[in-house]
Amino acid sequence: MTLRNQAFAGLEPQQPDGLLALIAQCRADPRPDKVDVGVGVYRGEAGGTPVMRAVKAAEAALVAGQASKSYLGAEGDERFARLVWQLVSGEERFGERRFGLQTPGGTGALRVGAELMACARPGARIWLGEPTWPNHEPIFSGAGLEVRTHPYFDATTGGIAFDAMISALSDARQGDVLLLHGCCHNPTGTQFSREQWRALSALCNERGVVPFIDLAYQGLGDGMEEDAWGTRLILDTVPDVLLAYSCDKNFAMYRDRVGALFVQAGSAAMLNLAKANALTIARRLWSMPPDHGAAVVGTILDDPDLRAAWQDELTGMRQRLQTVREKLAAAHPVLALVAQQRGLFSRLPIAPDAVAAVRRTHGIYMPDDGRINIAGLNQANLDHFVEGVLPHLIAGRDASNCNSRRSQEIPA
Ligand code: LMR
Repeated sequence: MTLRNQAFAGLEPQQPDGLLALIAQCRADPRPDKVDVGVGVYRGEAGGTPVMRAVKAAEAALVAGQASKSYLGAEGDERFARLVWQLVSGEERFGERRFGLQTPGGTGALRVGAELMACARPGARIWLGEPTWPNHEPIFSGAGLEVRTHPYFDATTGGIAFDAMISALSDARQGDVLLLHGCCHNPTGTQFSREQWRALSALCNERGVVPFIDLAYQGLGDGMEEDAWGTRLILDTVPDVLLAYSCDKNFAMYRDRVGALFVQAGSAAMLNLAKANALTIARRLWSMPPDHGAAVVGTILDDPDLRAAWQDELTGMRQRLQTVREKLAAAHPVLALVAQQRGLFSRLPIAPDAVAAVRRTHGIYMPDDGRINIAGLNQANLDHFVEGVLPHLIAGRDASNCNSRRSQEIPA
């Protein structure tokens, strides 16, 4: 037996990531009327994902004016972190109980925050809603947190199973972490009401649970201020908070990976401890974050004209999403709730075998769980999409377990 060429023999085979596989499958489909409602990127009415005008202008200014590309440090771009903090919190400064750290996308922020909690409280658990973004579980378990789940989406009503969520969280222990989507829930588009945010704040304080907010779609739901309402309430009322922020969607800078981790601690001393540890973790993971995307966002937010242009374009994107939602909701009563959900996603009541069927028959590409990217729809493809999915949608009570059963037909 040869001992050479065996270096990787101990590795487990891996399933390709479902969403990434779907991108490739859709790209390879030659049908001109295929509909891509898979991966979560904003698309305009013409189907493309353009670079935002303010981003183009800021990039040009940056290329012309950047004097050095020398290292910035593990913290990354401090101006970027401070200006994004203003977007999230509405406050000018961090104060002595908060800090921000630039990260590669929201994913980098989730990972540093997860490792921080795993260091702070060995054996710590994190609670994730069902369903949640599929990458949450591997990020948190990979960082050493024990993952627990609570109900989140009620497929029967198309809303949040809030009572069931609170009831499951009665098992949460002091020091457990609770992952909350700040707005525009991925994959369902459902959002907490203000009353529900207040109840979550009370729960965190009563049980000593640490909220970890994932805010990846600010501005794509109801507006920049409105989409931060729940996050601001939690920051104002709960002492220890983690917040992962992504600019990848609201600046349409997906591949530049632009994000930040914000940490709020109960005291300045605790904040300093958390900051030193977060910087050590970031240094170990990527040493220093990539600069370009954060420098562009910092340039836009620091310039009143660029900022106004960015806000205008973002408002147009949000309005288009809402227009598509309303058109889809009007197509059939079983789709009516789509108009009340927000952001890029809704989750259709459709079984996995029907998802595969509409991929074959109509070239409609969505993940197996029935999540659709609303921005993939437009005037030209909406009827084709509705014609493809409608016969497979499951109404009412039967929707609650549609992921595990064959779909039933409903009348069009
Ligand atoms: C999505 O949910 O489609 C995006 O956040 C892309 C990803 O990385 O999963």
